[in-house]
Order: sequence, then C-alpha cells, then structure tokens
Amino acid sequence: MIGIFDSGSGGLTVLKAIRDVMPSADILYFGDIRNAPYGEKSREELSRLTVNSIRVLQARGATSIVSACNSVSASLAISLFDSLGLAQQNLIEMVGPTVSYFKDFKKPILLAATPATVSSELYQSAFRMLGITIDAVAIPKLAGAIEFGVSATDQERLIAAAFAPYDLEKYGALILACTHYPLAGASFRKVLGEVPFFDPAEAVAERVKRQLWPREVGDGTLRLLVSRDTPQFRAQAAKMLPDASYLIEVVD
Ligand code: DGL
Repeated sequence: MIGIFDSGSGGLTVLKAIRDVMPSADILYFGDIRNAPYGEKSREELSRLTVNSIRVLQARGATSIVSACNSVSASLAISLFDSLGLAQQNLIEMVGPTVSYFKDFKKPILLAATPATVSSELYQSAFRMLGITIDAVAIPKLAGAIEFGVSATDQERLIAAAFAPYDLEKYGALILACTHYPLAGASFRKVLGEVPFFDPAEAVAERVKRQLWPREVGDGTLRLLVSRDTPQFRAQAAKMLPDASYLIEVVD
C-alpha cells in the first residue's frame, strides 16, 4: 500500500495524479492539518513532523511512502531510513522528479514555494548544478490561506505581494513547488496572467508508477487520514476525487 502525506489538502493534487496513472494502487493518505501550515516551520520541527507522518502511515500498513509536501523535502534524512525500516527505493518526494523533468530546459525558471522550501535551497542548488538559472519566490502564508479557506481576494493579495519584484517575461516556466498552490490555480492565473505554470504532481506520479508498479497494486482502496477534521479538507477531497469512495478518519 502506498502512503502519501502532506500538511493537509495540498497533497490531494499528488494523490489524484497517482490515481490517474495507477488506478489499482491501494492508497493511504495522511493530512496533518492539526500542524498545518508546514511552510513557516523550522527545519527541526519539520523533521519531527515528517517522521511522525511516516510512522502514522507505516503503522496502518503503508509499505511505500510518497512525500507530497515540498516543505519537508530537506527533512527526509537518508540517515533515518534504516530506523524507519524504509528502503530508499520505497520513498518518493517532490524535488527529484520535478528537477529531472526540467533537466534540459534552456530558459530561466521561476519557482514559487513556501518559505521553508525556499530557505532549504534544495531546488535552487539542484537546478544550478544542472546549469539552469533559477529564482525562487517564497509566498508567506499562502498555503495556510488555501488550507483554511481564506478568500480568493486575500490569496491574490499574497501572490501579488510576493511576485511584485519579479519581471515574469524573463522566465520560461513558473513551477508551483508547493502542492497547495495548484488548488489556487485560478488566483495565480488572475494575478500573473499567461506565464507557463508547471504543477509537479504529474511528474511525481509518473515516478511513482515507474518505481512502484506493479509491486504496489491492489484493488484501488482509498483511505484518508487527518489529524484534524475540517470542512475545507472534506470539500477539497470531494472536489478532487468526485468518483472515488473513501472514508475520512481522524487520527491522533
Ligand atoms: N503542501 C506543502 C508543500 O508542498 C506544505 C504547505 C504548508 O503546509 O505550508 O510545501
């Protein structure tokens, strides 16, 4: 069974993409809403929450893990894999498949993410090692605003403030490197116009399929776990997974 985790509903974008390419995979999803948003937390705190999420999923039978959260990527310490009983090929995260998708890209890239992701410098150093020019924009508070249903107008204000210093014409792509951001795609579009957006969910799903199929196939069972029940999560799940049957369970 594939376990997927995020701070809340953002990872549903990745869950949906995985179900599109592997409909028969059994999936267990954990949204850690009680601790959301992650993107303003320290590296230490994110490391602790990451280990907790992996344990929540493993305790309920997950044998492979997908981190559908960019903000924790710097916390996925390889040195802990042994202690967590996790082989490296059984863990998929956001940064590797996203960078790999753009490895031959010739134009400068703009990347939007949480403050935690931007300050980890993971994306920036990976792209620079490939000789690709990248600028990274942190959008404080946007993931939380999306998670807890703040109005579109307020979300647009946060986006506009973060992008004000950038000349978008310079870039060949804008990577939405927070899984919550595609949920506010219309607001990004409204504020930024016709920049070519990239949502990494599909690239990550392709990697999941390449790495985990056919090992992780079952009958398409879906279970959603949350550490706090919210109407926003329920609404987002219903919108993203209109044809799926699933239970939402609250865990400690
Ligand atoms: N969706 C997560 C990410 O990709 C976390 C966002 C947050 O909780 O701040 O970074």
